[in-house]
Amino acid sequence: MKFFVDTANVEEIRDLAATGLLDGVTTNPSLIAKTGRDFIQVVREICDIVDGPVSAEVAATNHETMLAEGRKLHQLAANIAVKVPLTPDGLKTCRVLANDGAMVNVTLCFSASQAILAAKAGAAFVSPFIGRLDDISSNGMALVADIVQIYRNYDNFTTEVLVASIRNPNQVAEAAKIGAHIATIPPGVLYQLFGHPLTDKGLKAFLADWASTGQSILDS
Ligand code: E4P
Repeated sequence: MKFFVDTANVEEIRDLAATGLLDGVTTNPSLIAKTGRDFIQVVREICDIVDGPVSAEVAATNHETMLAEGRKLHQLAANIAVKVPLTPDGLKTCRVLANDGAMVNVTLCFSASQAILAAKAGAAFVSPFIGRLDDISSNGMALVADIVQIYRNYDNFTTEVLVASIRNPNQVAEAAKIGAHIATIPPGVLYQLFGHPLTDKGLKAFLADWASTGQSILDS
């Protein structure tokens, strides 16, 4: 399973890239607004830090302007994935950009039938937003399972399932059990993946016992 981080904060991305765990980055207009910085500049900086796909979202809603924005974003770096919303204009734009050779991430996917459309439009990634579905008492993970199953039924569906709107570490493990290709994870949740009280407790005991030996690995 690939890990993308869901943030536009360049410092957070730099720190996470240093762990060697990062396969890509997703941004969206809300995450860009949170930085208070220039969109194009931020995206360029992220693409310099991370080799994998960096999603940058168009802001227009009509096909012509989306296409112009998408083409501009595609030119910024080789690892840009142009993000378009799952609307008729968005999917029309996806098809043209994909034919141009661009990676496209179709975002705001909330149903299996929408995910079929994204695959047919040539999307490199489809982003089901599981947390937002759970927020309205729907089942986000069931949607991920449906999409994974549907895509497996068709050899010509090459779109990767990018699980988005993740709120906790369990959702990452559940998505991996289902076989989703990618999880895009907020930095806080990514750090939570490391945590287990028995790891902390075990390490504390090992360190105490090691100290009692009076030895040093580097000095012996
Ligand atoms: C994905 O690409 C989106 O940026 C993101 O996962 C949305 O998550 P949210 O529902 O927490 O805003």
